[in-house]
Amino acid sequence: MNWAHARSLIGLAHASTDASREAGRRLPARSICVASGKGGTGKSVISASLAALLSRRGRVLLVDADLGAGNAHILQNASPERSLVDVVQGEREIDEVLTACGPQLDLLAAGCGVPHMAGLSAQELASIADGLRALELDYDWCIVDSAAGLSDQTLAFARGSDVVVIVTTPDLTAMTDAYAFYKVLSSLRGEQSVGLLVNRAGSAEEAESVAQRVEEVSQRFLGHAPSSLGWLCEDARVRHAVNNRRPVVREDPAAAFSSGIERLVERIDAQFEQRRPHGLGAALSRH
Ligand SMILES: Nc1ncnc2c1ncn2[C@@H]1O[C@H](COP(=O)(O)OP(=O)(O)OP(=O)(O)O)[C@@H](O)[C@H]1O
Ligand SMILES: [Mg+2]
Repeated sequence: MNWAHARSLIGLAHASTDASREAGRRLPARSICVASGKGGTGKSVISASLAALLSRRGRVLLVDADLGAGNAHILQNASPERSLVDVVQGEREIDEVLTACGPQLDLLAAGCGVPHMAGLSAQELASIADGLRALELDYDWCIVDSAAGLSDQTLAFARGSDVVVIVTTPDLTAMTDAYAFYKVLSSLRGEQSVGLLVNRAGSAEEAESVAQRVEEVSQRFLGHAPSSLGWLCEDARVRHAVNNRRPVVREDPAAAFSSGIERLVERIDAQFEQRRPHGLGAALSRH
């Protein structure tokens, strides 16, 4: 029995714990884009755990925005029958390609090894944006697992999100690319809140020094810097969870990485105290 079937049996199909929705206001989901300049910094494992943790509080839509080479489904142990490729090809509506991954967690899967999806035309991207505009009203949170790098498409997802989490590791190349991502995103003058998250740090001191270096360079050359979203430690349990195809917070709630994700959620909550969600689909449509 899959999650969609289980949900319909227990009547959870449209349940939501979000207060605004209970009050009848149709706010779009709060969107969080997990991004990085350099590849392999941990965006997908962080997105997978963020989505799993937030789905305990409300309905979560996980968008695999690594559209040509997605792997978000692997980390949720899902085997999508449909994906955003079908939407772009005009063969399916967006709500027909959802993959249920948990009681309140749905995935929009990307293509696997479909290079064309990594560089969509404006019209093709609009087909995803239009679908998202309606879909995001049914969710409390929308987590975007971004592709690495600075392509227009990747930047469009980041610019369209309410909160952007730029992930770096203590590697110099990852820090440099995190700064580059922040610089280019800032130049697009979006209204989103942009924060830096240090992943795979060996200690709080190391994480602090990494965050400080990115902040100093940003202040020096741009006159402003990303806010701090804290850090996640290097944790052998992460690989174990990945190999078991499960989000770390589900596989190993006591792991240090899982506690770090809980702290990250608190910091993200604080960002949303100061802003109303503006809708990823609507923002992408304006791209
Ligand atoms: N905190 C951590 N501790 C230990 N290993 C980690 C940690 N974070 C990530 N990893 C390892 O790094 C690998 C790559 O992570 P992930 O696939 O999430 O990166 P990514 O940024 O999504 O990569 P891509 O840019 O290719 O999409 C994981 O499979 C995991 O083994
Ligand atoms: Mg990834």
